[in-house]
Amino acid sequence: MDPSFWHDRWENQDIGFHQADIHALLPAYWPRLQLASDAPVFVPLCGKSLDMVWLAQQGHRVIGAELSQRAIDDFFAERGLTPTLRASGSFIVKSAGPYELWCGDIFELPHEAVAGVAGVYDRAALIALPHALREQYAETLASLLPATARMLLITLEYEQAQMAGPPFSVQGDEVRALFSGNYACDELECRDVLDGHPHFKQRGLTALRECAFLLHRM
Ligand SMILES: C[S@@+](CC[C@H](N)C(=O)[O-])C[C@H]1O[C@@H](n2cnc3c(N)ncnc32)[C@H](O)[C@@H]1O
Repeated sequence: MDPSFWHDRWENQDIGFHQADIHALLPAYWPRLQLASDAPVFVPLCGKSLDMVWLAQQGHRVIGAELSQRAIDDFFAERGLTPTLRASGSFIVKSAGPYELWCGDIFELPHEAVAGVAGVYDRAALIALPHALREQYAETLASLLPATARMLLITLEYEQAQMAGPPFSVQGDEVRALFSGNYACDELECRDVLDGHPHFKQRGLTALRECAFLLHRM
């Protein structure tokens, strides 16, 4: 997926993926990561997700990575925060309060960004990437993250032929194939969610499942 695709989505405010509420599966399953409440956590492809606010409210320092400067600026503006700026390689890092958001391509993220991270929250990150990039994403996370880091991963499953992504359908078997070289993958829940997504129904889906996984190093 070309970066311009996402920059255009943000510029045109075509951001149907952005949720006005905390994702229900985050408070339901985050405790399963068993993290210290003040442990730093990483949110890849973070957008301006309110889930980062919930994580910060639990006591975590929140490190995000996001291509779109617009998304990051909107996140801080909507919290009434004025971030400080610094450059690190190809990234601009914007920080305020409990948030440190790295603006740039996650595939170029330096180790130092996530060196102290204990937990990862992926909602609409893996499934935002086309098949060819998902392997690179899983390898990037495994090579960047401390060995003790655990991850809550939320995916969508549907018949890919019924709708073009993103979001892409990522079946449980693919999750296990992508991560099982480095992580044990526990499926926590899969639930039918089509009724809550009428826009996907309109795009042709006849079934849609949302699944949560807990990933931890073996
Ligand atoms: C589907 S959105 C999900 C955003 C957020 N996780 C949420 O739940 O609202 C995917 C986000 O990933 C960002 N993105 C896509 N490719 C990226 C990359 N290579 N590096 C960093 N961010 C990327 C996009 O700009 C977009 O904001």
